[in-house]
Amino acid sequence: MATRAATEHLPFGEKRDPRFFGKDILSVSQFERGDLEILFEVAHEMAEMVHRIGTFDLLKGKVLTNLFYEPSTRTSSSFVAAIERLGGSVIQINNVTFSSVSKGESLVDTVRTMEQYTDAIVLRHPEQGSAAEAAAATEKPIINAGDGAGEHPTQALLDAHTIREEMGGIDGLTITMVGDLKYGRTVHSLAKLLTLYDVRINYVSPEILRMPELLVKEVDAAGIDQIETAELGSVLPETDVLYVTRIQKERFSDTSEYEQVKDSYVITPETMLGARQRMALMHPLPRVGEITTAVDADPRAAYFRQMEYGMYTRMALLALVLGKA
Ligand code: CP
Repeated sequence: MATRAATEHLPFGEKRDPRFFGKDILSVSQFERGDLEILFEVAHEMAEMVHRIGTFDLLKGKVLTNLFYEPSTRTSSSFVAAIERLGGSVIQINNVTFSSVSKGESLVDTVRTMEQYTDAIVLRHPEQGSAAEAAAATEKPIINAGDGAGEHPTQALLDAHTIREEMGGIDGLTITMVGDLKYGRTVHSLAKLLTLYDVRINYVSPEILRMPELLVKEVDAAGIDQIETAELGSVLPETDVLYVTRIQKERFSDTSEYEQVKDSYVITPETMLGARQRMALMHPLPRVGEITTAVDADPRAAYFRQMEYGMYTRMALLALVLGKA
């Protein structure tokens, strides 16, 4: 478990915020609203720095491990881009079959090895709870990059940052989540994170892919109005942020069930005619047909900008966790 505390006598250039410094990032539940405001401000500054000078040396000398037991394009690459734009470096273990995991090495032993070499570990793993297990085994910060159908906290942070940048704020918005709400860890984390704001949330899914009841109860306990429906058209006109997700084929044990629901919701230019003129259309990506490419030119299509905001958010998180922001 990462346990470092802030110290008064800091090396030159070190600025340690005790809310982030040395902390594991395992779940969005660990954050308060004030923490997010700090993170988003730093992310905004990171964007300005990248636009101005591209790369700078804030994390020079810091080394990150990217340990991915599941495929990834965005999370893995954006953490690489983030640490490199901050002047640090990364050990990339993207295909664990080429590491000693293929010889049967446990997650804990792998993490305990990588902590000897690096300052923080970004972990994606197919089992829910794996990030917490890794965090318990090491003093170095573990950043959960997705644990099975559990959580994907850095995705939720970048999603909230995207909403803030695209819509000018989060309070007062109606956010509609569409697709695979049962297995989609991005929507699990985002719904929890949104309880820190004054929002309404709509869930649109096939019956078998509804948002887990426990999570709906948790969000309800925070006083958030929620609507569950299978009909996108019934909530689209009131939606400020439409957050579309992929039906996660890899999490179905019965592929015939997947075939029944895989094309339940497809966003097309015609769908967008029924949406507000000022709306952000988001998707964590990858997409496999839930939003047709004909929608990409619509100014409301924010999903590629969302990826860029993601790099700035992860730069901010790394700088804060490693004590340089
Ligand atoms: N959004 C997301 O987690 O994408 P990757 O699976 O490509 O990392």
